[in-house]
Amino acid sequence: MTSDGKNGMKVIAIDGPAGAGKSTVGRAVASRLGVDYLDTGAMYRAVTYAVLRRGVDPHDVAAVEDVAMSMELDIRDVDGATQVVVDGEDATADIRGREVTESVSAVAANSAVRAEMVERQRGWVTAHGGGVVEGRDIGSVVFPDADLKLYVTASTRVRAERRVAEIGGDVDEVEASIIERDRKDSSRADSPLVEASGAILVDTSGVPIDAVVDRVLEML
Ligand code: DC
Repeated sequence: MTSDGKNGMKVIAIDGPAGAGKSTVGRAVASRLGVDYLDTGAMYRAVTYAVLRRGVDPHDVAAVEDVAMSMELDIRDVDGATQVVVDGEDATADIRGREVTESVSAVAANSAVRAEMVERQRGWVTAHGGGVVEGRDIGSVVFPDADLKLYVTASTRVRAERRVAEIGGDVDEVEASIIERDRKDSSRADSPLVEASGAILVDTSGVPIDAVVDRVLEML
C-alpha cells in the first residue's frame, strides 16, 4: 500500500465549494468510467448526524472525536443517489436537513474526525478498486497522486440559484449561507478548501452541467 492509499488504482479527485456541480460531474464521470463514486461530504454530514443524535455538542472536540471513532457508517451510491446508514439507522434524508447543515462545518474542522474520515476514504478506494472521490481536500490531502484532479466552482449566485431550484428557499438567504460556509471551509486550519496543485479548474457558472460533463469526459 502506498502512503496515499491509492495503491496503483485509478482515482479521480473532485473538489470545490458546495453547489458548484461536483456531484453531477462526479457521478457522470464515474458512470462513464464504470467505477464507483464516493461523496465525502456525506461522510462529514453522517458524523454530524451521529453527533446530534447522541446529544453531543458539535464544538466538544473530544466527544465529537469519540463519535467519529465509534460510529458505524455505511455509505453507498444507489441509482445515482448517496444512501447513508448510521449505526443501523437510515440517515439519507436527515444528513441534508437544516440541523446537520448548520453544524457540519464545526465537525469537519475537527482534526481527529478528519483523520478518521481520510482513513475510511482510502479504505473505500482500496475496497472498490479505485473510483471518483468528491469533497474539499481530496486532491490536496487524501489522494494527492490522483490520476485526474478537478476543482469545480461557480459564482455564489449561480450556486445559490441551483440549490433553490433543487430544494426551494430564498436565493438571497441561500447565497448568504453559502458564502458563510465557504468562509468556514476555506479558513479552517486543517485541510482548508484549496485548489490542489495540478488540479484543472472547471467554472460551471453560466454553463449547463451537461456541457461541463461532456468537457470533462473529453479530458479523460
Ligand atoms: O459537500 P457538502 O456540502 O455535503 O459537505 C458538507 C461539509 O463537509 C462542508 O461543510 C464541507 C465539509 N467537507 C470537508 O470538510 N471535506 C470534505 N472532503 C468534504 C466535505
